[in-house]
Amino acid sequence: MERTKTGIPGLDELLNGGIPKGSNVLVTGGAGTGKTILTTQYLYEGALKYGEPGVFVTLEGNIRDIAWNMESFQWDIKSLQDQGMFTIYKMSMEFASQKETLEDRLAEELKEIEREVKDINAKRLVIDSTTVFGAYLEPSMLRTTLFKLADSLKTFGCTTILTAETQATKNTFSSFGVEEFVVDGVIALYFTPPNRSLFVRKMRGTQHDANPHPLTIGGNGISVNPRDNIIWDAIK
Ligand SMILES: Nc1ncnc2c1ncn2[C@@H]1O[C@H](COP(=O)(O)OP(=O)(O)O)[C@@H](O)[C@H]1O
Ligand SMILES: [Mg+2]
Repeated sequence: MERTKTGIPGLDELLNGGIPKGSNVLVTGGAGTGKTILTTQYLYEGALKYGEPGVFVTLEGNIRDIAWNMESFQWDIKSLQDQGMFTIYKMSMEFASQKETLEDRLAEELKEIEREVKDINAKRLVIDSTTVFGAYLEPSMLRTTLFKLADSLKTFGCTTILTAETQATKNTFSSFGVEEFVVDGVIALYFTPPNRSLFVRKMRGTQHDANPHPLTIGGNGISVNPRDNIIWDAIK
C-alpha cells in the first residue's frame, strides 16, 4: 500500500509509515491544540522532503496571517510558493447573491479548490476548519453535507486532512458529532496545560499505535514522541 508520509517528526512511526494514500483524515482538538500548525507543517514537509505540492484551504484565517505564522517557524514558504509547490486558498462562505443556496456556494468553492489542486498538481490538501460550516447548516443537514464534501474531495486525488475544533474534553472529536464518521482517519490533539498530546484514534487500512503520546511545539514546529506514552487518565 502506498502511504503519504506526514513528515511530522514521530507521527509517521505511529501510523506504521504514514497515512494510506488518498485518505481523508480529520485532525480534531480544542482551540490552541496545534491543528493549524500540524496541517501547515504537513504541507511544508510534503513539499520540501517529498516533493509533493500542497494546497492549504482556510475558512478561518486570512492568507497573510497563515503565511506569517508559518514563517515564524523559519519555514521558507515563499520559495515553495514561487516553485508552485504550495498555495494558500481562502474559501469564502459569503453568498454571492440572495439567490445563491448553500449547495451552490459549496459547489462553487469545490470547483475553485479543484482548480487550485490541478494548478500545482497537488498531492496534499488541507481544509482548516470544517467547524465554520456549523454556522450555516442545520444539524440534520451537516452529516449529509460533510459526507458529500468528503466524497468530492476524494476525487481530487490528494491525501486530505480536514480539521475540526472540539470542546476541550477528551471524548469529543468534533463539534457536530458527525465529522469523524465521514472520514478514513481521526487524529486527536489535546492540551492539558502544560502538556500537549496526540492520539491516533482511527486509521482505515493500516495498523496504528493506540496510545496518546507527548506532542511539543518548538521553534521549528510540531514533533511527537512515539516512545513515551501518556496515560489516558492524565488527559482532561
Ligand atoms: N513558536 C511557537 N513555539 C511554541 N508554541 C507555539 C509557537 N507558536 C504557536 N505556539 C502554540 O501553538 C498554539 C496555536 O496553535 P494552532 O495550530 O494555531 O492551534 P489550533 O489551530 O488548534 O487552534 C498557540 O496557542 C501556542 O500555544
Ligand atoms: Mg487553527
